[in-house]
Order: sequence, then C-alpha cells, then structure tokens
Amino acid sequence: MAKIIDGKAISANVKAQVKEEADKLKAQGISIGLAVVIVGNNPASRVYVNNKKKACAEVGFESFEYALPEETTQDELLALVEKLNGDDKVNGILVQLPLPKHIDENAVINAIRPDKDVDAFHPANVGHIMIGDFSFLPCTPAGVMEMLAQTGIETDGKNCVVIGRSNIVGKPMAMLLLHKNATVTICHSHTKNLKEICSKADILVAAVGKAKFVTPDMVKEGAAVIDVGMNRLENGKLCGDVDYDACFEKAGYITPVPGGVGPMTIAMLMKNTLTSAKIKNNIK
Ligand code: GUN
Repeated sequence: MAKIIDGKAISANVKAQVKEEADKLKAQGISIGLAVVIVGNNPASRVYVNNKKKACAEVGFESFEYALPEETTQDELLALVEKLNGDDKVNGILVQLPLPKHIDENAVINAIRPDKDVDAFHPANVGHIMIGDFSFLPCTPAGVMEMLAQTGIETDGKNCVVIGRSNIVGKPMAMLLLHKNATVTICHSHTKNLKEICSKADILVAAVGKAKFVTPDMVKEGAAVIDVGMNRLENGKLCGDVDYDACFEKAGYITPVPGGVGPMTIAMLMKNTLTSAKIKNNIK
C-alpha cells in the first residue's frame, strides 16, 4: 500500500522557509514583488494565477496582476514585459501559459530578463539548467525534487522514467533527476514498449496530460509514482495522469491530485522570486 506524499504539507514547509527569509529582507527595507501576467479568459489559467497571488500574500511578497484581454497584440504584451523588466519593484515576471494562438510564446519568453525569469523558461536559464549551474529551477520539476527529498526517496543510481517531453516539465524533470545521479529514461508518444519501460522504474513521473494514463501494469511494486497531471474530467473533477485508486496498492509512494505536485509548483515559484531578490541585493 502506498504512502501518500502530501504536497500541501511539503509546500507549506517551503513557503514557511521563504517567508522567514522574506521577513528578514523586509527588516532591511527590501520588499519582494512578483508580476503575474494573464492574457485572455482561460478558466484554468485564472485559477492558477489566483493561487499564485494568494501564495505571494502568504509569504509576504507584493503581487502585481496584469490581466489583459484576449485581443492583446504580441507587441502590446512585449511592451508590458519590457516595462516590467525595468521596474525595480518587480523581482519576478510570470507570463501565464498558454497564450492566445496569435501570440508567439517563445518571443514572449525570450523577452523576459533572465534574472527575472522565475519560471526558468528563458533559453539562458534552460542552458544553465542543462549545465547544472543555475539560480532558478523550473517550478514543477523543482517541486517534484523537493517532494522526493523531503520524503527521503533516494534518486542516486535509481531507474527513473519520465513520461512526457514538454519544455516545461518532461525535459527539465529528466535533467534534474540526472543531476541527482538517477538513470533517466524519457518516454513519449512514439515510445515503443512504454508499459515495459515504466514497469522497471523506481521513480515514475507522469507528465502526459491524459487522465488515468498510468495503470497498475506500468508500476513496479513499491515504486514512487509522481503525478504531474491536471486533467479536468467531464464531471468537472480534477484528475491526474495516474489512475490513483488502481495504482495505490502497488506503489510504494504516490502523489494525489489535487494536493500533490500542484501546490509544490507554486511554492517553488515563491522560492525563485526570493532568489531573484537575493541576487539583486547581493545577499547569499
Ligand atoms: N502554465 C502551466 N504551467 C505553467 C507554469 O509553470 N508557468 C507558466 N508561466 N505558465 C504555466
């Protein structure tokens, strides 16, 4: 039977540490600010942005929301990013993805100053992550690593399988596991023998975007099963990429959805924003 990895509790620990450090900076007259940009009316994005603003309030950061209409042009968005790049009150800039189809996401990501890129999506930060010399870690993979560390799950020498190869999760997830000496396999829609590969994983990370994709025959007895998925079912309920109930008996550890990786992503965003402020103010 699996032990449940409580992302809410672990993220509360991370946020408490961030708040402690933020309070110390405040005592020195340094305030910390995160700009959150949302374009259009994607309901899921609205929920994420609200949660990010709420987390800022919890740790004592200022948050500046820019909610732009769906028709916003790419040039208008780039002009806002440019303004935020030069705004001293803004330590981190987060442009919520996805953006409307008429806007080139890469152009926007490339416009964010790398030292304010708290998502770690800018190619300069991606490069730093690849080399293993980084200030910011991408929030979701960093959140997963923090969960593994705080739960005492060893990565060194372990077989880790990541399902999904997105720039936001799959690729950086594999890299962070590799930095911690795991043997990493990335699986995707063209992978042959997916079930067989997954069933050899000591740590299985599902970031596919398909509800209940991971079934018990893909899970090794006692494995840590980490669910990055956030799928909305027809009945409106949130559901991960893992068939949680079916995998519960076989897994050694499992993350629930909601209450698993999701809260960790936001906690790591707070950590990156703190890091940005510390770097700017030359604080170790
Ligand atoms: N959309 C889904 N996840 C994320 C994230 O981590 N950052 C941003 N900016 N947009 C997202």
